[in-house]
Amino acid sequence: MKDKFEKLEQIKKLAILGGGLDKIKAQHDKGKLTARERIELLVDSGSFEETDMFVKHRAKDFGIDKINIPGDGVVTGFARIGGRPVALFSQDFTVFGGSLSETHAQKIVKIMKTAMKAGIPVIGLNDSGGARIQEGVSSLGGYADIFLLNTLASGVIPQISVIMGPCAGGAVYSPAITDFIFMVRNTSYMFVTGPNVVKTVTHENVTFEELGGADTHAVKSGVAHFVYDNEVETLQNVRKLLSFLPLNYLDRPPKSDFDFNTVSDDQSLDDIIPDSSNKPYDMKEIILRVVDDKDFFEVHKNYAGNIIVGFGRIGGKSVGIIANQPEVLAGVLDINASVKAARFVRFCDAFGIPLVVFVDVPGFLPGTDQEWNGIIRHGAKLLYAFSEATVPKITVITRKAYGGAYDVMNSKHIRGDFNFAWPSAEIAVMGPKGAVEIIFKKEIENAENPEDELNSKLQEYIEKFANPFVTAERGFVDDIIYPRETRKRIINALDLLSEKVDTNPKKKHGNIPL
Ligand code: HXC
Repeated sequence: MKDKFEKLEQIKKLAILGGGLDKIKAQHDKGKLTARERIELLVDSGSFEETDMFVKHRAKDFGIDKINIPGDGVVTGFARIGGRPVALFSQDFTVFGGSLSETHAQKIVKIMKTAMKAGIPVIGLNDSGGARIQEGVSSLGGYADIFLLNTLASGVIPQISVIMGPCAGGAVYSPAITDFIFMVRNTSYMFVTGPNVVKTVTHENVTFEELGGADTHAVKSGVAHFVYDNEVETLQNVRKLLSFLPLNYLDRPPKSDFDFNTVSDDQSLDDIIPDSSNKPYDMKEIILRVVDDKDFFEVHKNYAGNIIVGFGRIGGKSVGIIANQPEVLAGVLDINASVKAARFVRFCDAFGIPLVVFVDVPGFLPGTDQEWNGIIRHGAKLLYAFSEATVPKITVITRKAYGGAYDVMNSKHIRGDFNFAWPSAEIAVMGPKGAVEIIFKKEIENAENPEDELNSKLQEYIEKFANPFVTAERGFVDDIIYPRETRKRIINALDLLSEKVDTNPKKKHGNIPL
């Protein structure tokens, strides 16, 4: 038996060594950790159980059969994070640049299939030169197998992609189908075609970082949901994200202990809305006062800042928060904000995470740029997402809720369960000035003093419509609440809705305006 143990030990050592000490050193020199070091940082200490450590590639062309390292460039297995199970894979750049062979792909598919059956999240740590060139179409097939599994697993289990090195060509589409993408500054990049091809085709000179680095995708394209300065911070935040999520669509999001007796009014909220309706304020201040322990985990922090999305706990329960941000573009809904929020709403709905919505929105952004780029179909995504969501849905209108944006932002009409307004709410078809200039155009033009007439009509309109009372009279908001009691009212609403059941008509699937 001893010699059998020795053989086992020997192969395990080879697998653990991957591409060898020189390649490990090269990886460290680039400021990157190895596949196994990353796993150690990500999961609960000692919880990782590896699968398919002995798998080898079966290719023969271009002399590749002379190098065959057990594990074939990807470490796969299962572990615990925060005491709960996860499946994961971690590509090993020291073995053929982490490139994806047929067998490498099979290992990933295998853990994904188990994860779907077990109902546990999948985390992919990506660091790969893409399809293994020596294997040709077999490796392309391997990618397609993963894409299919990503699609089938979507909405069944949370899928998280962490980009920790190159991710190029069609390989970007696996992370793109998953729920969240993390990137690391300066060491990770994603693009469909690299700078050299770009130069040939479009004659643009662009660096790797500019074309597909972490900040590019966090700020410009919105491909990356989270970006951090180094791998350690990135992996810590993957753990944090998971702490808000259920294991699968049937599981309940994790709850923390909560004592209802600790809830008290927050007087500072009463003074947060400026006197002038056109003055900005920071919506994040409201969010931080409403969530437990001021702990708000923002998603897409650097993209489309006119809308805020992210996770928090309110009364111990995980919630997804969506809020207009008056500090950026007055909180207007544009294409990027609509798509950002729609995707977040759909994620929360898929995984049973209640939605809490704060509204201060002057409307949709006008202009040729927005119209020609399809604000109609993109704005419709957010409307569709809120409308189809069946999780508990709570809305607080803090100030403006104008036009179509009033309907879109989780209004009562699209199945908001509890819709509250602050006394500062202004709910109408459009803002006072625009409205008065249209409906009293003639009166203003023909008046002896047009400016006085405009001001008097403005006053009339503001008194009639720019308040929450008309809406409350119709029951379109359930209550007008004092800002200070917002946290308490949301906690009570979430508690009341904790067993909520709502459904959509039976169908194969809807047709969201993509
Ligand atoms: C096989 C690969 C490889 C690949 C890298 N290597 N990419 N082997 N197939 N795709 C090997 C290298 O030969 C080298 O082996 C080792 O990995 C490290 O690579 P280096 O080039 O030395 O590293 P670095 O300078 O850091 O550059 C990394 C890189 C570069 C930018 C990723 O290797 C590169 O451009 N690779 C090709 C990327 C690519 O075009 N892939 C196909 C994308 S298309 P040795 O033995 O010398 O250490 C695609 C299609 C997917 O993936 C389609 C899905 C539908």
